[in-house]
Amino acid sequence: MAQNDDKPKGPDLTQGIPASDLAEGGMVAGHVGGEDVLLVRHGGKLSAVAAHCTHYHGPLADGLVVGDTIRCPWHHACFSLASGEPLAAPALSPLSCWEVTERGGKIVVGGQKEQPAPKKTGSASERIVIVGGGAAGFAAAEMLRRRGYAGSITMLSNDAAAPVDRPNLSKDYLAGNAPEDWVPLRADDWYAENGITLKLKTEVTALDARARQVTLGDGSTVKFDKLLLATGAEPMKLPLPGADLPHVHTLRSLADSRAIIAQAKNAKRAVVIGASFIGLETAASLRARDIEVHVVAPEQRPLERVFGPQLGDFVRALHEEHGINFHLENGVTAIGGNDVTLKAGGALAADLVVLGVGVRPRLALAEKAGLAIDKGVSVNEYLETSAPGIYAAGDIARWPDPISGARIRVEHWVVAERQGQTAARNMLGERTPFRAVPFFWSQHYDVPINYVGHAEKWDAIEIEGDVMKRDCVVRYKQGGRVLAVASIYRDRDSLEAAAAMEKQAAA
Ligand SMILES: Cc1cc2nc3c(=O)[nH]c(=O)nc-3n(C[C@H](O)[C@H](O)[C@H](O)COP(=O)(O)OP(=O)(O)OC[C@H]3O[C@@H](n4cnc5c(N)ncnc54)[C@H](O)[C@@H]3O)c2cc1C
Ligand code: FES
Repeated sequence: MAQNDDKPKGPDLTQGIPASDLAEGGMVAGHVGGEDVLLVRHGGKLSAVAAHCTHYHGPLADGLVVGDTIRCPWHHACFSLASGEPLAAPALSPLSCWEVTERGGKIVVGGQKEQPAPKKTGSASERIVIVGGGAAGFAAAEMLRRRGYAGSITMLSNDAAAPVDRPNLSKDYLAGNAPEDWVPLRADDWYAENGITLKLKTEVTALDARARQVTLGDGSTVKFDKLLLATGAEPMKLPLPGADLPHVHTLRSLADSRAIIAQAKNAKRAVVIGASFIGLETAASLRARDIEVHVVAPEQRPLERVFGPQLGDFVRALHEEHGINFHLENGVTAIGGNDVTLKAGGALAADLVVLGVGVRPRLALAEKAGLAIDKGVSVNEYLETSAPGIYAAGDIARWPDPISGARIRVEHWVVAERQGQTAARNMLGERTPFRAVPFFWSQHYDVPINYVGHAEKWDAIEIEGDVMKRDCVVRYKQGGRVLAVASIYRDRDSLEAAAAMEKQAAA
């Protein structure tokens, strides 16, 4: 995460700049009363918006203007240039906007605009229930209120914590570089202030689509008119002797991350089982805590299935540079009190073990309710399940992806949030198909890897730049068509690839 440099940069935009300094499609970074502001000329219009993204403060001047929107270079949040509205996650708060005028060959920025209050929509007696307090569930609730939904919202979550910034749990927070107050998506009082009844530690045990109600763990029921299922995924466990020992952890929730941090305080050697994204990010964070880390995994190269051999080799080299010891094409047959036994023979000492062997979508509720299932909860382009008025979003949802032409299910933070947002709009009566280009990022030490699109297999990999020098665009192609693009420090290329796929999806 970048920190804002306190000194304003560029011209004082209240004094104006020559109109000739801002060509069509161009941007000028300046300041207004100590705030960094970006002036943009797009489609013959002028906009002045805050220069930093409201997600992790990404520099929007390095982003991409597409139509009347601006996209953040770091994790592809999309904002309206006219109103500052965060149209697509991961940013969930608007950009401040200023008045702009062009007169006598000068562009001058005036006062800050007020954010318009949403117009009320729907009836106050309507009830929307959201099962799940994660990425998709939170983004849906936020969007419902942002669009002025007047009815009740009840969010039911079996987690003890209110919605958190889950990606942080394996990155800065776990590494000790981010305080815990960065982790909640919103302060505790935000829910009540926005008329959202958030029930934590509340297990939903059954869904009755006909009776329009869910049953909770204590036997009580909650009625709904419309429902969003956003139960996410749970970490897989291995049926290994010793897997239940107290120093063996999985990582999904804030409680899991806290438990690993507590264990790490007295740990000297950790074994991470599985070279998954979460496994490797955890390994990196434990290295930041000066713990010796061994990664044991069956594959030949970490992340090769998603990234291919070149990026797989890079990821391995990067982690080795930071002192990670890999035991690849290997496995664990047992976990003991202070070691793990390797499949290929021998043992590794370990006073902390983390399982990062993948996740399984939580489908039980949908299955029991008789919703159509196809390696996930089947939804149509509007994210509605086989039961009218019941929607699904996030890690559980398998949707028709217009870019690949296939029905896909992915486990990405931004996709889950954007699906929550689209489902919310459709629950309000819009008929908005979900057409967002899948996007995820993964952070290894100081190296972010961005990925747009979706490629389960490919017949060619095209590399531009130099992977080992951390400056590359990697295109995954099938039959000459680009299905996905991974990149390192090529944010603009990543944004352009996403914009091109978005156009394709809309065609
Ligand atoms: C440590 C970690 C790091 C990650 N990093 C990244 C990253 O860098 N980039 C990226 O793209 N993705 C990342 N992901 C994946 C991303 O977090 C998920 O794709 C995303 O959270 C999915 O959102 P969701 O809403 O579907 O599920 P979740 O966010 O998991 O939310 C599901 C919610 O449902 C609740 N729930 C489940 N069943 C019930 C029930 N029966 N009753 C009541 N409540 C229930 C859960 O408690 C939870 O609140 C990471 C995941 C983890 C665990
Ligand atoms: S910093 Fe802008 S999307 Fe993350």
